[in-house]
Amino acid sequence: MVPIHKSEKEARLPSTNRRAFLRTTAATLGAMSLRAPSWGVLADSVGQKIPVLIGVDYYPDHTPETLWDEDARMMADFGMTNVRIAEFAWALLEPSEGKVDFAWLHRAVDTLHKYNIAVILGTPSAAPPPWLTAKYPEIVEVNAQGMPLKPGGRRFTCPTNKTYRRLSNTIAGEMARAFAETPGVVGWQIDNEFTLGSSARCYCKYCQAGFQEWLRSKYGSLDNLNRSWGTVFWSQTYTDFSQIPVPLPSGADPNPGLALDYNRYQSYANASFLEEQLALLRKTCPRHFVTTNNIGLPYDLIDMRSLYANLDFVAFDNYPGFFEMLLHDQAKSGVSWDYIYTATALSHDYGRSLLRKPFMIMEEQSGKAGQRTFSPQPQKGQVRMWTYQAIAHGAMGVNYFRWDTATFGAEEYWHGILNHDRSKSPAFDEIKQTVKELKQLGPEVLNSSYPAETAIVFDHDSDWALQIQPGHSGLSYTTQFTTWYGAIASNHSGIDVVAPATDLSPYKIVFAPVPYVLSEAHAAKVRTFVQNGGIFVTNFRLGVKTENSQIVKTPLPGLLRDVMGVTVEDYVPIYSAKQGVKFGTSLSGPDGESGIWADILQPSTAEVLGTYTSGAYAGKAAITTNNFGKGKAIYVGADLDSSTLARVLGSFMVSVGVKPVLEAPAGVEVTIRRSDRKQWIFLLNHTDSTQTVNIPSPCTDLLTGEWRTGTVSLNAYGVRVLQPS
Ligand code: GAL
Repeated sequence: MVPIHKSEKEARLPSTNRRAFLRTTAATLGAMSLRAPSWGVLADSVGQKIPVLIGVDYYPDHTPETLWDEDARMMADFGMTNVRIAEFAWALLEPSEGKVDFAWLHRAVDTLHKYNIAVILGTPSAAPPPWLTAKYPEIVEVNAQGMPLKPGGRRFTCPTNKTYRRLSNTIAGEMARAFAETPGVVGWQIDNEFTLGSSARCYCKYCQAGFQEWLRSKYGSLDNLNRSWGTVFWSQTYTDFSQIPVPLPSGADPNPGLALDYNRYQSYANASFLEEQLALLRKTCPRHFVTTNNIGLPYDLIDMRSLYANLDFVAFDNYPGFFEMLLHDQAKSGVSWDYIYTATALSHDYGRSLLRKPFMIMEEQSGKAGQRTFSPQPQKGQVRMWTYQAIAHGAMGVNYFRWDTATFGAEEYWHGILNHDRSKSPAFDEIKQTVKELKQLGPEVLNSSYPAETAIVFDHDSDWALQIQPGHSGLSYTTQFTTWYGAIASNHSGIDVVAPATDLSPYKIVFAPVPYVLSEAHAAKVRTFVQNGGIFVTNFRLGVKTENSQIVKTPLPGLLRDVMGVTVEDYVPIYSAKQGVKFGTSLSGPDGESGIWADILQPSTAEVLGTYTSGAYAGKAAITTNNFGKGKAIYVGADLDSSTLARVLGSFMVSVGVKPVLEAPAGVEVTIRRSDRKQWIFLLNHTDSTQTVNIPSPCTDLLTGEWRTGTVSLNAYGVRVLQPS
């Protein structure tokens, strides 16, 4: 390593602290928008108006030390401001139990710091080394078939196991002590992707014991537990907590209450695993921020709201091209880029909404991606557009995965900014241009708010309960949720993704697809929201289950019957005999069909907006609206196809004045960011052809500096950031 002279050291970035870094993010956040400028704070401290979190995921542990200096110099030349390193380096950091070696990591951090590259350190618990698994084989995950995983990959561990927790905390704690005062280190990523693969569910004996403890504290008594789950069914009455099983194969389906609680327990186990490391980092490194990353999709394995609850900001990973390959491999027909970019947009809106703060993309796809097969090469312009999509939805930082491309290990196919031979990857110049543009745009836009008058409720309980008993093999909560999100996103106005417990009052309109599990508290939120003038739009399977996953004993939709002004006369899973739907005058449009489900509605006070036209229930209500208090409650009983749904849900949005800032052709996404005085309009062309957009008022194109009136064109995968005058 090149020795560093004092004068050079003094010229470097001062090490920052978490409080300073986040000083403005703690500002009160409007429920409908993010207002927390954390981007640029570190840069401000050296008088440079540059964003701080544009960087790469870097692996000095995979790279000969002779190249570190060159790498850091190139990154600085590239405009990078930070790296994330070391998140899988446990074997190098602790070569044998209790013997740590941080010298190499110190040298790596120093080299990066010499070039003003700030460092986010990963704690390495996602990849325990062979000495550890040889000595403590009991730490491995047991999968849903009851088979213990074998070491040799990553994320093969149990979140409950105390030995694994102790050893993870030891290495994280040692790292914290070693790097608390190291110049250049600004923050931490705990572990890596808790939601990857099967790892968010373990069925081992430690999880069983942990589950039993968790149940004891949740239910207090066995009587209460037995009643709540209805264990009298199939002779499952428990007379001791130690008898309670985990939902492994047992000849028939598990008790739905037990199975739902097990999802909740596993979520808790992962979150409390993270919290232990967080407590250590908070204590030892009060000057650093702490976050974790997760795969952006799917978003339902762990309750992210509890996982991120005490972290400084949300970070997650974004691989749209890899997602395309996965869908292709699963032979999902009809999957188009529309679906992928919509799911990606949703993932970003979810990330922003979790803490109502700017978020960070910790890993952004920068090239062909894959372990055994390659995803497609991103099209020219796509990596830039993915970056802008993140910022358009509220990101404050983007790290590209990864700097160079590994020539060994399971991810040799995962391309970075440099190829295997260290030549420039196809996206090298594009990423360099993007970094330059982001710096030119400046911190104001990146710190601006993301206005949203619309919310969509994402509910883990309903999702998990429907996974356990879908009711129809085609009924998936996340598919319904994504379809509903896509339908309302076509309005091109802001959407927050909220929990059922969220205060809904800041929103004009709230969508809640398939709220299958409905607690009294959540029903009360909806009731108050509608009473006070809100528009609540929901669909079939509303309020079917209690929080314990028992079916309600009242006519459906249970707790919200008076609010919705209907009774569900029958509920109909649909296979071959389709259920036609005709729309009344207020929703006029071609007749539709209900796909997999039809709730047959009997209005009491509600007005009928659509009726079924075929089958035994022809003429019965399919869609209704009810005036309740000052607001309206709308029930979409039919499972409409996505374009009909977009028309129907879009008309409800327009009826309450939630309107797009401008119209855009299919495949062009429009988002707004706003500050007190200014507005930025992001136009993102997700298609491979040129698109034209009419702009309502004259704007400055901030990426070209040109003045625009009338129409603007967007090249294939093109981006424009417009500022109305
Ligand atoms: C992410 C993960 C990284 C790397 C990358 C490419 O999911 O966090 O460690 O594996 O994907 O596979």
